Formats: sequence, C-alpha cells, structure tokens
Amino acid sequence: MSEHRPQLEITRDAATAAARAAEIVASRVASGAAKVLGLATGGTMVPVYAHLVAAVQARKLSFHGVTGFNLDEYVGVAPHLPASFHAYMRQHLFALTDFAPDHAHIPDGLAPDLAAEASRYEMAIAQAGGIDLQLLGIGSNGHIGFNEPGSDFASRTRVVELSEATRRANAVAFPDGAVPEQALTMGVGTILQARDILLLATGVEKAGAIAAAIEGPLSTDCPASALRLHQRVRIICDEAAASELDGPTADIRRRA
Ligand code: PGA
Repeated sequence: MSEHRPQLEITRDAATAAARAAEIVASRVASGAAKVLGLATGGTMVPVYAHLVAAVQARKLSFHGVTGFNLDEYVGVAPHLPASFHAYMRQHLFALTDFAPDHAHIPDGLAPDLAAEASRYEMAIAQAGGIDLQLLGIGSNGHIGFNEPGSDFASRTRVVELSEATRRANAVAFPDGAVPEQALTMGVGTILQARDILLLATGVEKAGAIAAAIEGPLSTDCPASALRLHQRVRIICDEAAASELDGPTADIRRRA
C-alpha cells in the first residue's frame, strides 16, 4: 500500500478546531454524502457534538436516515452507567437530536460472546454499505479507537486490552477506581475502510502523537500513522496539538 499525506488544517484554538470539524460533518450529512457515520467519543468530541446538536435544534441539520457506528465501548460497563460510551452518546448526541435509536450502533461490551459481537458489528457495518465518514480522536499514545500501540494495521473489530496510559487518561469517568481493562473496538483495518476520515486533535498533550502520526515512521508503535495508508484523511488540530510538527508540515502551519 502506498503512503499518502493527510490533509492538515491547523486552527488557532481548540474551539475553532471543533467548530470546523462539526462544519464538515454537518455539510456531508446535509448533502447526503455521509449517510453512514463512524462516531467517536472522548473529551475532544464534546464541543463537536454540541455544534451538531445546536444545528439540529435550529432545524439546519437532520440526522434522519443517517446511521452511526461508534468506534468502541468498554467491556463490562453497562450501557446505563454514565462512564459507558452508550451513555456518552445519549448525553451528547442521540437524545438531543433526531438520530434514530435503531440506527445508532455501539459495540455491546456486555455481550456474553465478545468475539461473536465483534463479528456481528463488522457485518452490520458492511450491511449498512460501509462507513462514509469516520470521525476520530487520537490518544496521547497515538491510539485510534482503542487500537493501542502494537495494533496490527489489518486488525478488525475485536476485544483489546487497554494500556495503562489509556486507563489513566480515562480514570476520571470511574470514580470508584474500577477502570475497565478491556474494550471492544473497531480495528485499524476497519477504520481504514471508511471512505473518508476526519481526525480531530486539540491540546498540547496530543502534540507528540500528532507529530508521530504525520511525520514519524509508519509503525504500529503509533497506530494513527496507519492513516497515511488512506487517501482521504483530513486532520484538524489546534496550534497546541500541532506544536511538535516540523518538516514540510510546519509550512502549512505557518501559512494557516
Ligand atoms: P480524548 O480521547 O478526546 O478524551 O482526549 C481521544 C481518544 O482517546 O481517542
């Protein structure tokens, strides 16, 4: 597979980056180009969803007829618990918009047979016609979805062990200290099958991961570097997340 250069957009601050990401999602949904969305969770996406909710509530946007597939869910965390990604999606998007509940897919982290659930999820994505636009955040360790460093670029939806770094970063959602050790996640290969990919990164804690993803070696040490195998990736970062880029991409930063 040949390597491509992601399209990079660097904004002044995090709020502008989120507004820009929301604008892209909204325009693809409104034009009908994105009927199947790959959806992400995490703090970075909260303002993106807030913009989309505001657009729906102002009747400028509708998710009618749109299908969503979330990237991941913790294993063993019930969907009604606030720390689950099911709850996150209800809180930030699904309950506030016309997104049809039966079109909003999230892996079932309570499934008795997690391998079967992973295959079912892959099949559901295929049956929906594949993902038109995949939204992604990035971990400070370079993960995409819960594909931690070491994840095979051909990996599919599966159960993964969460790294200590990820468990620490997400510990705040688990006040009892019981941060899950496993998750179900779309694989790197699943993500790379989306027709378009939009990654959003804000804050200086993402700067190392962004530099590794764009300018580092193509390596499973930084799962996000796999995005360079895809022809249609746009990365939106604020100045802080772009602050460790040097090389040719630094020119883009200076021009922005
Ligand atoms: P964050 O998570 O937006 O909460 O930083 C991103 C990720 O881990 O993919």
